[in-house]
Amino acid sequence: MKMPTEVKIIRSPRSMQDICLKLRARGKTVGLVPTMGALHAGHMSLIARARRENDVVVVSIFVNPVQFGPSEDYLKYPRPFSIDTGLCRAAGVDMLFAPGAAAMYPKGHKTFVNVEEMSNVLCGASRPGHFRGVATVVSKLFNIVLPSKAYFGEKDFQQLAVIKKMARDLNMPVKIVPCPTVRESSGLALSSRNSYLSPSERGQAAKISQALSLGRRLFHKNKITNSARIISSVTAVLKTIPGVRIGYVKICDPATLEDIHTAHARAILALALHIGNTRLIDNSILGDVVN
Ligand code: PAJ
Repeated sequence: MKMPTEVKIIRSPRSMQDICLKLRARGKTVGLVPTMGALHAGHMSLIARARRENDVVVVSIFVNPVQFGPSEDYLKYPRPFSIDTGLCRAAGVDMLFAPGAAAMYPKGHKTFVNVEEMSNVLCGASRPGHFRGVATVVSKLFNIVLPSKAYFGEKDFQQLAVIKKMARDLNMPVKIVPCPTVRESSGLALSSRNSYLSPSERGQAAKISQALSLGRRLFHKNKITNSARIISSVTAVLKTIPGVRIGYVKICDPATLEDIHTAHARAILALALHIGNTRLIDNSILGDVVN
């Protein structure tokens, strides 16, 4: 195992690209873990996998302004950079790419990447421009870091689907590696935004994974394949959370994100909701083992 040493912090896209071009020329494999920082065990699981599978591991920390809507939390998004650096060092990360917004989007930046249709459904319906912002920054990161593999969490399954589609459609020479969702013991999926929740909201948020488990149980044990019936039972559980606002509860195809009316084991049960001011998302493969 690689012993924790210093992690090199690189701020300039140009310097990062120069280093990665040289690594590639020397035949080294580079694994990239794109993040917005405030690292938690979910991020660390991606980093650990990248560490196992590549010669060199690059973690990017960049709170990407173009994926936040005007009324979203760009300014208050947590930025505990020195803690993140320590976590990366302990995990054996080689390089931390942490550019400023002006370095990534200099004045006059005009090029954006849009994965059509898939970007406008589910979370995209209430967050116009969000996935265009994600696809744009991830393409830029791929061009700067030139990774052989890039690691993304299944927690953000629409993001994963959009990035896979973008990489395929644009012939990007990178393997997208999906990584399972890491959860607290309560079942709550880890997220940098969980820090916005009050202790009582956090307790209530455990009902999200209970609702997903119910959906899986109805499919598996009760053999219900009518998506509308599963969705209405899951929604009923979510509605017991005080102050909840449900964005959507859907059963959809993992690749196209289209609604599925007759559920099958590979379908995704996905949801988004607000508890107070905090927006949370979660999902589960319907055919996954019931717990
Ligand atoms: P961020 O929310 O920081 O997440 C970085 C990566 O960690 C994403 O691939 C996300 O799916 C994964 N992740 C988050 N929570 C997880 C959990 N509980 N278990 C497993 N993986 C988890 O997603 C973004 O940043 C940005 O949109 C980004 C891709 C960096 C583009 O700006």
